[in-house]
Amino acid sequence: YTIEADKVKAHIEPTMYGIFFEDINLAADGGVYAELVKNRSFEFNSHLAGWQERQKNGGKGSVEVVDRTAQRPENAHTIKVNIESNTGSFGLSNEGFRGMGIKKGETYSFTVTARKPAGSLIKLIAELHNASGNVIGTGTLTPTSANWKKYNVKFTATATEDKASLYVWLKGKGVVDLDMVSLFPQHTWKNRPAGLRADLVQKLADMKPGFLRFPGGCIVEGRDLVNRYQWKKSIGDIDKRENIINRWNTEFAHRLTPDYYQTFGLGFMEYFMTAEDIGASPLPILNCGMACQFNTGQLVPMDQLDPYLQDALDLIEFANGGPNTKWGKLRASLGHPKPFNLKMLGVGNEQWGEQYIERWKVFTKAIKDKYPSIKIISSLGPFAEGKEFELLDKTFRGLGADILDEHYYKAPKWFLDNAKRYDNYDRKGPKIFAGEYAAQSVATGSPENKNNWECALAEAAFMTGLERNADVVNMASYAPLFAHVDGWQWTPDLIWFDNLRSYGTPNYYVQQLYALNKGTDVVPLLNDGAMVSGEEGAYATASIDKNTKELIIKFVNTTDKAKPVTFSINSTSTYQKTGTVITLGNYKKDAVNSLDTPTAVSPVKSTIGLSGKSVTVTVEPATFKVIRLKMI
Ligand code: AHR
Repeated sequence: YTIEADKVKAHIEPTMYGIFFEDINLAADGGVYAELVKNRSFEFNSHLAGWQERQKNGGKGSVEVVDRTAQRPENAHTIKVNIESNTGSFGLSNEGFRGMGIKKGETYSFTVTARKPAGSLIKLIAELHNASGNVIGTGTLTPTSANWKKYNVKFTATATEDKASLYVWLKGKGVVDLDMVSLFPQHTWKNRPAGLRADLVQKLADMKPGFLRFPGGCIVEGRDLVNRYQWKKSIGDIDKRENIINRWNTEFAHRLTPDYYQTFGLGFMEYFMTAEDIGASPLPILNCGMACQFNTGQLVPMDQLDPYLQDALDLIEFANGGPNTKWGKLRASLGHPKPFNLKMLGVGNEQWGEQYIERWKVFTKAIKDKYPSIKIISSLGPFAEGKEFELLDKTFRGLGADILDEHYYKAPKWFLDNAKRYDNYDRKGPKIFAGEYAAQSVATGSPENKNNWECALAEAAFMTGLERNADVVNMASYAPLFAHVDGWQWTPDLIWFDNLRSYGTPNYYVQQLYALNKGTDVVPLLNDGAMVSGEEGAYATASIDKNTKELIIKFVNTTDKAKPVTFSINSTSTYQKTGTVITLGNYKKDAVNSLDTPTAVSPVKSTIGLSGKSVTVTVEPATFKVIRLKMI
């Protein structure tokens, strides 16, 4: 193979490899949002879902759900607990999201909002129970006010348990009203109070993503319009963020997620801040007046789109506006005076059809009139190919769209066959965002899909084609991102977790290797003068990194035989005698990672010697290799 290392073919955008986040598979509530209490504000349709009344030693009491819709429509339910006897204990327990993950030595912060009439004297004892019912942490607080007030106590856990539950005992006599019953670990991502699970955000940071797309996915759209994602309801005081049923709350037996709601504890402020923390460009996707077309497909009439348009315009001001703008001022008051530097946003998630096109036109005009430099991401639906895809593609190209969002959940073979997909795309037309993709080991949507090596290797091969065409493809993200091992609807997923642990799949390591080794500019990698894209199972791309002065070669061997390969570098630069090789491969097709073997499939680093401007390496069967060579 020859590498023309001085002939820059395309610039690689810093956004190239990013993250798609959606609250599916308990990704937010029950996942990255570190709240341990399920249904903390009693807003689930079944208001005591997740809660159970408890008595011990003859304790007596009752729990009543109180509706205060008239005063607080966005947080309409509280509970009134009446303690009827001074002896024994009465209370409630909360099961958490498939249990609660508790760590020995960690401090937990228990918070409630409470009020009690004069004359009632009630003490709250919070107890963490392990799966056998033993107490592994406890704290006490006493509500004192007749008005709603927040109370907090911190305590340390004495044991580790992944299926703990929280008991709240009420001792004394009288009545107490409770809401926002919450338990967080003290140690969160950047130790922000009531923040995000540090191990999960760290996995994202370790990918060094170019962008963070949020909040989805189909939840942008909602099953119906009432349950669409509304960013304005996801910011500010946590007890004013209106809970809604999650679009992924589903009745299917194999899809283990009844009682799946969105509390919006992970809301737009948290998304923007997380993007900033991990060095990713924020990419919000907004509802364009259409509910999920796989469900109700409800449409907002064209003459009633104004509130939706206003949400889009206000979001840009919220992200970028100065202190004298309404929404910029609000952002500052929420703790972030500096703008978030929003450069792009998505109009609609995975929409298609005439109804989308007509709404898209109205949105695009309104946004571009006010904010001409904001790039708009336009959906090409879920299709990847076929009539509907071609119609959308042609229409948006004709309309001069900025960036087109293509989705593909396909068999590994499709990924191998499509490594050439972008070779002949129009260089002058819209840029491409490969916004959702993942190789499916069984079939799209099948619960039997596995995050196995066969799929990850096919994605690695396909991604050589993304990178080689970086002048057209500016962004790409695997989807979905997270899944809880005990509560998911969709497979495969990039990162799996339980209540205490998490692991990156083979696919995660492929994504990470691309993101950490993308370079700044593509240079030609040729075999007999032709681009390498699947011939005899070889897929390859090369780039230079102008900042670190390195040549980076990515090579995928999809065959079951080792390939000895030599790269001859045409360049005026000279190279250090030793380079670095990162190898991910030589695994069986069905190799996977798991919570117990989280790095069974993971990259291994070694060194390699150069002979002048030539380097020879053996690429093992079913292997993805990255080679970094430093210029002198
Ligand atoms: O990633 C899972 C779902 O797949 C997304 O919510 C949707 O956009 C697509 O259909």
